Amino acid sequence: MANACGVDFGTSNSTVGWVRPGHPVMLELEDGKATLPSVVFFNAEDEEVTFGRAALAEYLAGYEGRLMRSMKSLLGTSLIDGQTEVGGRALPFRTLLSQFIGEVKRRAEQSAGRQFTSAVFGRPVHFIDDSRENDQLAEDTLAEVARSVGFKDIAFQFEPIAAAFDYESQISREELVLIADIGGGTSDFSLVRLSPERAKKTERRDDILANGGVHIGGTDFDKYLSLSSVMPLLGYGSRLRNNSEVPSSYFFNLATWHTINQAYTKKMWTQLSDLLRDSAEQEKLGRLQKLIDQRAGHWLAMKSEEGKIALSDAPKVTLELDRLSPAVTLELCRAQFDDAIGHLVGSVESTVLSLLRDAGVAPADVDTVFFTGGSSGVRMLRERIGALVPSARKVEGDLFGSIGAGLALDAVRKFG
Ligand SMILES: Nc1ncnc2c1ncn2[C@@H]1O[C@H](COP(=O)(O)OP(=O)(O)OP(=O)(O)O)[C@@H](O)[C@H]1O
Ligand SMILES: [Mg+2]
Repeated sequence: MANACGVDFGTSNSTVGWVRPGHPVMLELEDGKATLPSVVFFNAEDEEVTFGRAALAEYLAGYEGRLMRSMKSLLGTSLIDGQTEVGGRALPFRTLLSQFIGEVKRRAEQSAGRQFTSAVFGRPVHFIDDSRENDQLAEDTLAEVARSVGFKDIAFQFEPIAAAFDYESQISREELVLIADIGGGTSDFSLVRLSPERAKKTERRDDILANGGVHIGGTDFDKYLSLSSVMPLLGYGSRLRNNSEVPSSYFFNLATWHTINQAYTKKMWTQLSDLLRDSAEQEKLGRLQKLIDQRAGHWLAMKSEEGKIALSDAPKVTLELDRLSPAVTLELCRAQFDDAIGHLVGSVESTVLSLLRDAGVAPADVDTVFFTGGSSGVRMLRERIGALVPSARKVEGDLFGSIGAGLALDAVRKFG
C-alpha cells in the first residue's frame, strides 16, 4: 500500500490516485465517480459551499451565490490575489482554492479510509507561458494551498510525464512515445522512452527526451466558440448609434470561464445601462443586460461547452438558448468551430514541432502518440497533432484518469 497519493488538480476536473493491491487506482470523489469537477459554488442564501457536480446543479437551480470554475487559471496571475463578492462579503480566491483542494483531500481520504499527508501534485509544463517567474509563482501558490489543507510533504510532477507513467504500465515492449495531454487549460506534451524494464528505475531523467506545453485548452475552445457564435447574439460586434462598436470587454469577460463574475460588478452594470440607451441594436444588448441581471453567464458558458463537446461526435448541433430573452435556437457546425479555434490549434502544433526539434528526434522515429485529457476529443486537434508524426500509432488513453493514475505511480517512487 502506498504512503502517498497523486493529486491531479485540473482546470476542469480533479482526480486522486492511490496505489494499493487489489483495488482500482482512482479514488471515488463524487457519486461513485473518480472525477470531481473543479467547481465551487458559494450559496449566499444559506452561506454554504458546495463542490463539483453538486455545485453546478445548485447554480443551475437558480440559488443566489457565486460559481467559480477554472480556478487553476488564476495561478501565476495577479488575479489570484483578488476576490469575488458573495452576499456583500469579499471571498478571496486563495480561500476558494483552499476550500476546493481541502475538499478533494477530504473526499479522497474518505474513499481510501485513511489520511494522506504526502502527495505528488501534477502541474502543467507551463502554468504561464513565457514567464519563468510567474510560472514558479503558480507552483508556489499551489504548494501553499496544499500545505494549508494539511499536506506536509509535497512533490510536483509534469502532467504529461504522469500520463506517460500510466501508459507505460500498459505496454510490453520499448516505445518512443509522444504524450499529448490536452486538458481544460493547457496542452502538454512530452517525448519519452518507455518500457516495462525502464519503469522499474527510480531515476527517469534519461528517458525523458523533452517536455513542452502551451496555455491553451478546452476552456479556450469554449471561449472562441462563444465569441464566434454566441456572443454576437448579445451584441458583440454590434454598433452604437454613433456608429462606434460596443466595447468588447463584456463579451470577453463572459466568454472566459475564470472572469465571468467580473461581468457582474456594479460598475459594469452602470456602463452597460448607458450603452443600452445608445445602442443601435437594442434587442441584442437587452439580452446581455438580462443575462447579467440573472447571473446566467456560467449557464451560457456551459451551453457553449456542451455545443463544443457535441461537435466531437456530430458535424452539426442545435443549442436551445432558452434562458436568453428573447430565446434563441442556435445551430453550430464543426467547420465553423474549427475555424474559430484554428489559430489556437496552430500554436499547439508549433509547440509539438519545437518539442521534437529540442529533442533532436525526427517525426518518423516516434512510435506512438498517446492522447489523454478531455480536449483530445476535439477531432481537428487530434488529427493535426497526429499528422505531425504520420507513422506513429495513435492510442487513446483514459481521457480523464491517466494523469491521476500516473501521479499515483510516481507517488510510490517518491514516497514509497
Ligand atoms: N468529447 C469531448 N470533445 C471535446 N472536448 C471535450 C470532450 N469531453 C470533454 N472535453 C473538454 O475537456 C476539458 C476537460 O478535460 P480534462 O478534464 O482533461 O481537463 P483538466 O485536467 O481539468 O485541465 P488541465 O489539465 O488543462 O488543467 C474541458 O474543456 C471539456 O469541455
Ligand atoms: Mg489535466
